[in-house]
Amino acid sequence: MKRFRSIVVPALILPVLFTWAALIYLPVSAGALLQSDEDIIRGARLYDNWFEELDVQPPAGDMPLWASQTTNSRSGPDTWRCVSCHGWDYQGRDGAFSSGNNFTGFPGVFPALENDPTLAIAGSTNPEHDFTEWLSSADIAALAAFIQSGTLDDNQFIDLTSRRVLNGNIENGQAKYASACASCHGSDGTAMVFRMEGQDVTLGTLAVTDPWRFLHRTRFGTAAAPDMPIGLSLEWTAQDGRDVLLFAQSFPSGLPSGGQTPSLGGREETPVAQPGGPAQGFWGGLLTALGAMATSLGFAILLGVVLVGLIFVFVWFARGKK
Ligand code: HEC
Ligand code: HEC
Repeated sequence: MKRFRSIVVPALILPVLFTWAALIYLPVSAGALLQSDEDIIRGARLYDNWFEELDVQPPAGDMPLWASQTTNSRSGPDTWRCVSCHGWDYQGRDGAFSSGNNFTGFPGVFPALENDPTLAIAGSTNPEHDFTEWLSSADIAALAAFIQSGTLDDNQFIDLTSRRVLNGNIENGQAKYASACASCHGSDGTAMVFRMEGQDVTLGTLAVTDPWRFLHRTRFGTAAAPDMPIGLSLEWTAQDGRDVLLFAQSFPSGLPSGGQTPSLGGREETPVAQPGGPAQGFWGGLLTALGAMATSLGFAILLGVVLVGLIFVFVWFARGKK
């Protein structure tokens, strides 16, 4: 029995020590990761519409730089949004805004990957591009975090003419959509109506007319939907986002049938379900929750704790048997 103890007990204790070390180490690194994800999400939403995100009045008139172009006829608050000039694909005149109503000739923010974006946003490179009157240094840091770590180039995966996703996996998109999106938007995207270019549209319309806005808001969310689960938090890869977009491009792109056309106020009429909520029934919800847990750190910690418990029981038995 002595031999048994000298070999088996250390063999049992070692994994316990390892698990402890992992438990001490993991929450620290996860905290750091979450922090920067939070910055990126915040930056992305500020980029989309900083005055809506900050819940402040937009500045009066047009953004000063707006007058340096004549092709885009928008005016007022929209001209102050980063996205109006730099695009949903972040490539300005080199991307989706290279022609059409949105063309301004303004550059994208991808080159900023080499420069420090905070300088441009604070007006150091061009005094007419100074946002410090409205954005705090934390806001500007979040925007910079988004520009440097959150933006990505989808244009090699989207046909710029047909706007269709190239080489996507529609089954993956369908599964991801069913688990995280259908509860609010409906299985074919028509359950919720929102505004686009002065029209009431559904997800299918957005997916075929502006895939870049679809991707940006699916990944990072939008100020109008604080409860919406987003790709970044769901740990979707860039390809997962494009797969969901591809699936959404198969939706009916018109308005929901049934005669009555909901206005913008229709938003409130749609019951806002909780992410992974009751819409799929108890077992569906449970599976979704388990799936989310399995991919998350919470599950890793739970597993660690269960493991430690089991090992203690084993050690206890081994010692009791001597
Ligand atoms: C009215 C149009 C307009 C708006 C709105 C706008 N920008 Fe710009 N942005 C420009 C132009 C034009 C330049 C090039 C300026 C220059 O260097 O002369 C630029 C440059 C930049 C650069 C530097 C790019 C590089 O190549 O280094 C960054 C970063 C940037 N903008 C981020 C933002 C962010 C973030 C916002 C929102 C808070 C924003 N911009 C809003 C027009 C705009
Ligand atoms: C909790 C309910 C809910 C869930 C679940 C949900 N959404 Fe949303 N979504 C909303 C609301 C509310 C809006 C804002 C509609 C508006 O602007 O009136 C929205 C807006 C959007 C938009 C932006 C539309 C625009 O104006 O450009 C996209 C894209 C989108 N959702 C995609 C998704 C995807 C993809 C999923 C799955 C990951 C998802 N949503 C899950 C509630 C939800």
